[in-house]
Amino acid sequence: MLCGEVYSPPHSSEQLMIKLCVNIDHVATIREARKTYEPDPIAAAEEALLGGADGITLHIREDRRHVQDHDLFELRKSLKVPLNLEMAATDAMVALAIATKPEMVMLVPEGRDEITTEGGLDICSDLTRLKEVIRALHDASLPVSVFIDAESHQIEAAKEAGSDVCEIHTGPYAESLEQNNFSISHADVETQLKRIKKSIDHVHTLGMQCNAGHGLNYHNVGRIVSLGGLSELHIGHSIVSRCVFIGMRQAVRDMKQRIQEATP
Ligand code: PXP
Repeated sequence: MLCGEVYSPPHSSEQLMIKLCVNIDHVATIREARKTYEPDPIAAAEEALLGGADGITLHIREDRRHVQDHDLFELRKSLKVPLNLEMAATDAMVALAIATKPEMVMLVPEGRDEITTEGGLDICSDLTRLKEVIRALHDASLPVSVFIDAESHQIEAAKEAGSDVCEIHTGPYAESLEQNNFSISHADVETQLKRIKKSIDHVHTLGMQCNAGHGLNYHNVGRIVSLGGLSELHIGHSIVSRCVFIGMRQAVRDMKQRIQEATP
């Protein structure tokens, strides 16, 4: 999506297959466990592409616990598909985004002690600052996505802040499914799915693109896909976990197949 463009979702009869953007952070996590040069996240991205990845996503954390700046610069030079940079909304990260020009900047909240991104951005409480950050990114022609909980007030705030894309946090759905013995028809799981569906529709009504991610895996991705209306999924942990056993190429192929099978 172009920065500042109004998104119009395809009609249901022309539903396209959702794009799969593979998050390669955890390949860098293994490398950083030894502070060495392997496994190489750049090679992981190439393998993911050979498996059919439509984009590569990476999160440069302020503490640089996994992906390093040189990974980003290297990927920028070599990557043949869109590069999505997940980052906190800080001046230093904005400068890094402007220097590397990813195809999309994904703003996420960042807590130093969290194991992974724990919740969506609270845009409502930080509207003025986020507006400025998004304006600075737009001035550099960088499209912006905000990672938010499936809450209507956050979607409204995302629009007001100037975001092009909302990425809906699917973690609560994934957790509900796990806590309820993977019963897809459980009432709590249904409630989470309805919240996400309502959010997708709301995001479209406001002319933004809707993506989703967090906690998605080979088991739970199908129901999210079948909701319709999503443009991209950003998936990391489950693909990297599977690739330990069968390789990145096949792990990505398998996820693409799950997505294809569930596409309405
Ligand atoms: N989307 C966002 C905004 C994230 O922060 C993450 C985790 O880095 C993901 C998607 C991918 O989540 P997971 O690793 O659980 O697939």
